[in-house]
Amino acid sequence: MPLVGAIDQGTTSTRFLVVDEDGSVVAAAQRPHAQHLPRPGWVEHDAAEILENVMTCISEALSEADLAAGDLAAIGITNQRETLVAWDRLTGCPLAPAIVWQDTRSAGIVERLAANGGTDRFRSSTGLPLATYFSGPKAVWLLEEVDGLRAATESGRALLGTMDSWLLWNLTGGPEGGRFATDVTNASRTLLLDLATLEWNPDLIEAMGIPAVALPEVVPSIGRLGLGVGHLAGVPISGILGDQQAALFGQGCHESGSAKNTYGTGCFLLMNTGNTPVPSSRGLLTTIACQIAGETATYALEGSVAMAGATVQWLRDELGLITNSDEVEALARTVDDNGDIYLVPAFSGLFAPHWRPDARGVLVGLTRFANRGHLARAVLESTAFQVAELVESIKADDEGIAGRVEMTELRVDGGMVVNDLLMQFQADLLGIDVVRPRVEEATALGAAYAAGLAEGVWDDTSAVRAQWTEGGRWRPNMDQSERERLAMRWSEAVKRSLDWS
Ligand SMILES: Nc1ncnc2c1ncn2[C@@H]1O[C@H](COP(=O)(O)OP(=O)(O)OP(=O)(O)O)[C@@H](O)[C@H]1O
Ligand SMILES: [Mg+2]
Repeated sequence: MPLVGAIDQGTTSTRFLVVDEDGSVVAAAQRPHAQHLPRPGWVEHDAAEILENVMTCISEALSEADLAAGDLAAIGITNQRETLVAWDRLTGCPLAPAIVWQDTRSAGIVERLAANGGTDRFRSSTGLPLATYFSGPKAVWLLEEVDGLRAATESGRALLGTMDSWLLWNLTGGPEGGRFATDVTNASRTLLLDLATLEWNPDLIEAMGIPAVALPEVVPSIGRLGLGVGHLAGVPISGILGDQQAALFGQGCHESGSAKNTYGTGCFLLMNTGNTPVPSSRGLLTTIACQIAGETATYALEGSVAMAGATVQWLRDELGLITNSDEVEALARTVDDNGDIYLVPAFSGLFAPHWRPDARGVLVGLTRFANRGHLARAVLESTAFQVAELVESIKADDEGIAGRVEMTELRVDGGMVVNDLLMQFQADLLGIDVVRPRVEEATALGAAYAAGLAEGVWDDTSAVRAQWTEGGRWRPNMDQSERERLAMRWSEAVKRSLDWS
């Protein structure tokens, strides 16, 4: 039976999964990596630590299942998006800490770029607003602040790439001929890719002052990229998808109108819009969903929320109210409702649909009555409220999508979907069913499907869709009037988070 490996290089941890022909997970290993927060608004990772974790996870998962690398028909890569690495082509060493997607240090650069043409200056080509979230401004920051980096990129010695490029290059040989490429989904998060041509836009590269020689080749998501070296010798690396696009793919949302929401560190709601990039008028991103080699790309509308599970981590790590993420539900259940307390976790500003870098976190509605339980509930509810805003925006935007059917249920995945209170509240707020698949690891599964499709493990996407089976369902159980009251209170709370920074 053919097996496929998937590297899921996430924001907080790295996983390696081995998946069989039925889409079942036969082996898995996971390793967290350090989150470096050297200053307010800065978030860094060590790319070398992450690479080591990838290799360790692969070894562990394979040996757990008594497998050898040669048993894998292919490996796919999925990764935290937008996070940027600069490294030396000759030594293979990172030249600076990786700047993580949540990092806001490039705010000044974004402001400077927006001074000439506004924040939507690049939107018609890239589908994105100018924001610190995307990789391009992070590259500009590195080029301006890291000694010697500009000269090293211009001479071809230093490379700039997102996590997928860093891993692919290393897995396929590193300094000895590693393939320097990025797939279209990751490239569509840089503010440098032209959505129509699927190539770097020379005008945007010039506007940001990034040396083109330092950027990876843009390739389709599904198709062989190279062969592994070392203890992955000869194993084809055959797919790359950004983590949210991988979850969309793994959830079987290959056709126009299908959507999923992933509840991880952040929350990311993506709806497939078929072969047309649909511009958003509601603060959503237009992005690439996937491209199979030799075919036209599919696009998606995306709503991104920066703080979802990360808010639970904050409750755990910074406030110390819980010791494990899964304790948040029991704590929230010690109270009957939110006690009119709302947390707006605008810790790195607000992403979709507001795009307000000036917003900061607020906790409103406090009285002497408020306790830890209310805070836990406000943390969980904040995720659901933010997702409800995304769904509203998608509904308003999707009129441009040909043949779209009404969103009648929401497919969900990610670490927070084990939280019953959150999922029920989400269904209540949306007024539609929330459904999770049997295999919760939709992100890794998507990468496995991508690589396996490229190598003929699965014949086509309909074979992949056929493997999706339901693992849980939450039905709405709330009056429309209560739903509206809560949404209104949330909007009031959001207003109070604005204009702070
Ligand atoms: N029972 C729970 N209730 C609420 N949140 C939870 C629960 N268990 C885990 N989480 C949260 O889920 C998040 C982890 O989910 P997941 O592993 O999907 O994250 P992720 O974003 O994919 O991470 P990465 O980016 O590293 O891949 C953490 O932020 C954690 O706090
Ligand atoms: Mg993840």
